[in-house]
Order: sequence, then structure tokens, then C-alpha cells
Amino acid sequence: MINDTFFNYERYLQPGSVELIITSPPYLNNYHYNRNTRPHLYWLNLAHSPEDFKKLEQENVGKYWQTVREKENIALEFSLQYSDIEEKLSILKDLNPEKGIYGGKGWANYAATYFNDCYKFAQVLNFL
Ligand SMILES: C[S@@+](CC[C@H](N)C(=O)[O-])C[C@H]1O[C@@H](n2cnc3c(N)ncnc32)[C@H](O)[C@@H]1O
Repeated sequence: MINDTFFNYERYLQPGSVELIITSPPYLNNYHYNRNTRPHLYWLNLAHSPEDFKKLEQENVGKYWQTVREKENIALEFSLQYSDIEEKLSILKDLNPEKGIYGGKGWANYAATYFNDCYKFAQVLNFL
């Protein structure tokens, strides 16, 4: 077991060195792994203080809505032919502006970050 984010794959793995990948990445449902597994992470000695959770939060695939909802508009970092993600994000961003950080802008940031990390994940799979 490698106790690290997959974003650090190059520290551990050579290009073309993996024959089979079985994966179950986070979904676009803002399931907060840190909060929901907090006791387990302490019990398993994978976390020792709240500081450890900040790092995990930043390294999580897609981040959490709570982490990105107050940031300036987060853009897609890639473009895909035949994809309407950008258009859908733009619609989402403009929903319920009166709700402030709880409105569409925060959720658009969350979704954009999620898709950006999915794209990075696909690049990693291609590297391996
Ligand atoms: C849909 S769950 C899959 C859980 C797994 N199948 C299991 O049974 O425990 C997604 C998992 O990806 C992990 N994860 C999120 N970001 C990650 C990252 N950057 N690197 C590695 N794992 C990550 C989460 O902590 C969570 O355990």
C-alpha cells in the first residue's frame, strides 16, 4: 500500500509499468471522506491532528465543495471535443446568485475542480 495521493504517481511508478488498474475514484457527490472517516483515520494512525486533514482535503480528487466554494471562478483546464461540460458549468454558475457561497457559483467551482482532477487522473492512467 502506498499511503499518498495518486497525484504523486511519478514518485513511485515508471511509465508503462502497470498492466491492470482497478479503481473507484470519488464521485461528483461531495461525499466528504475526511469528515466521514475521521475516527478511522485516527484509529489507523493515518492522521494525528487536524492539520493532517487539511493536507488530505487539498489532495482529494475534486476537492470538496467547502474547500472551493468561496474561490474566484475556477475554469476547466482542458477542452474535450463534443463535450458540453463548459456550457453546463456556465449555466450552473449563474444559478441562485442571491444565495452567496451556497449558490451556483460555488457548485460550479466544485464541479470544475472535479472534472479537472478527472482529466489529470486520465492522464495518469495513460502514463502508467
Ligand atoms: C468512491 S471511494 C472508493 C472507496 C474504496 N473502493 C473502498 O472500498 O474503500 C473513493 C476513494 O478515493 C480516495 N481518494 C480521494 N482522493 C484521492 C487521491 N488524490 N489519491 C488517492 N485516493 C484518493 C478517497 O479517500 C476514497 O477512499
